Amino acid sequence: MDGIKKEIISTPTIPEDPEELLGAAEQLQTTLMMYSCAIREFKTKIEVLNDELSIRNQRNPIEFIKTRVKTPYSIFHKLKRKGFEVSLDSVREKLFDVAGVRIICSFVDDIYDIAGMITKQDDIRVLEVKDYIKNPKPNGYRSLHMICQIPVFFSDRKELLSVEVQIRTIAMDFWASLEHDLRYKKELPLIEEIQDELRECAETIATTDLKMMEIRDKIQKMTESRSEIEEDLQRRIDGE
Ligand code: GTP
Ligand code: MG
Repeated sequence: MDGIKKEIISTPTIPEDPEELLGAAEQLQTTLMMYSCAIREFKTKIEVLNDELSIRNQRNPIEFIKTRVKTPYSIFHKLKRKGFEVSLDSVREKLFDVAGVRIICSFVDDIYDIAGMITKQDDIRVLEVKDYIKNPKPNGYRSLHMICQIPVFFSDRKELLSVEVQIRTIAMDFWASLEHDLRYKKELPLIEEIQDELRECAETIATTDLKMMEIRDKIQKMTESRSEIEEDLQRRIDGE
């Protein structure tokens, strides 16, 4: 409750001049629209990859994609928290997660395949990679994070906009959603015990993710050898 009060008190003074207020609101709206276009461009790229790979490999490496544009409220609080000036310039120069794209993959190796394909696209500039799969966070969090900059073409100019990309498996996503809820319910009793249990679950999930890949590969091999046998049989029947 105290935190919320402090946040309200630290809200910047709203311009008294209605025209100034309208101008500021319009500028913010334009900026958020640009980030929403960046998301659309980026999402299309990922959908193209998924379509192509699903034909090549006969399965979808991507289960689904979630996107979001950061709200003005959370942009404001992040700028304050990091000690940056509250301005549109700061949003463009200091925040790299105004546009967010979360890619949920079927298997762990799909995550790295997709990340590699994103990196290879020559209009995308990868500004940062954080591999929380190879180096999980102490709480157990696992995901591959990338900050990518992509060009977006508007009527009179090209803008280079950053997009925060999080790539994870369905299981990692399931875990992160629960852990996220827990972080916003800090008043819960036995929090440490719950955190320990969550960390254990994250490890179980990581092991299960690897096991699922092994099972997929086994099924793949069995299917391949079965079709070889069937082809051989057919050749014999045809008297080749
Ligand atoms: P920010 O100041 O939030 O940008 O932190 P950062 O620059 O260190 O970014 P990081 O790449 O670590 O995390 C960015 C985003 O990843 C967060 O806003 C969350 O959406 C997600 N994330 C990171 N750590 C966790 C975690 O421990 N649990 C969950 N559920 N999500 C996380
Ligand atoms: Mg960040």
